[in-house]
Amino acid sequence: MTATVSTDLTVRHLGIDLDTPLPRHWAGDAFRTAFFNALSMSFPAGEQMFIDSLKKGLTALPAAERARFEPEVRGFIGQEATHRHVHARFNAHLERQGLVNAWALRIQSRRAQVEALDVRNWVAVTAATEHLTAVFAEYLLARPGVLAAAPERLQQLWQWHSAEEIEHRSTAFELYGALGGGTAWRVGMFRVVLPMFLLDAARQTLNNLWHDGSWWKPTTWSAAARFMFGRDGFLTVSRPLWKRYRQADFHPAQADDSLSRRWLADHAALVPAVMPAVSAGAPART
Ligand SMILES: [Fe+2]
Ligand SMILES: [Fe+2]
Repeated sequence: MTATVSTDLTVRHLGIDLDTPLPRHWAGDAFRTAFFNALSMSFPAGEQMFIDSLKKGLTALPAAERARFEPEVRGFIGQEATHRHVHARFNAHLERQGLVNAWALRIQSRRAQVEALDVRNWVAVTAATEHLTAVFAEYLLARPGVLAAAPERLQQLWQWHSAEEIEHRSTAFELYGALGGGTAWRVGMFRVVLPMFLLDAARQTLNNLWHDGSWWKPTTWSAAARFMFGRDGFLTVSRPLWKRYRQADFHPAQADDSLSRRWLADHAALVPAVMPAVSAGAPART
């Protein structure tokens, strides 16, 4: 069945202090900090790829469809460009701490390969990664305790990014459908993206722990086991949600977005709009 959904994407300014250096273990323990730092290191390069894939996908649409998607893609680009900028400033602190961003270099080195794909498959790679991002965002917004030990400004940074990821979670998926992309390739690309993402995240987390000098401490790994595999651990919670992407009737908008909406409403003064919401009616399978 086809239904029409309306997506409002507002580009916001995050009004937090990004100048004060980060505590070395700002997330509370060495492992959790190394993992979040790894994710942040991937964002400036990764989100640029998302932006570029959607720009190319938009250009490939017939004129009428392009006009329909253009406002939403513009909102998506504005949000991701802001995320890139904020995480680049966050990452500059990590560099000053002596951490080394190898993940960004790996993303850059794959760029030519991804760009050479049929545009539908490049957009499918973005849609698959956006699903992983949305699942992580849901995990974080539902569990503010995960970053309870972090300074408030850093909790706000991760929660703002999470809320906006949920807000624009359907954009790449919808564009893929409008480009004529089918389920088999969408799922096939997800099967490639998921293990690659997990391997990259693990490698960068280990790299961070190595440079931090914490990799050999037993407490690092007991904290890692609890954070990843505990009853409410990240992998424990996320695995079933990742699998949903493989279903033929999957749509990102099927997941509840109330936590994102509530966070953005409760923090309107902290994250004022710099570009008004744009609306795009886009077809969604329900
Ligand atoms: Fe983002
Ligand atoms: Fe995103």
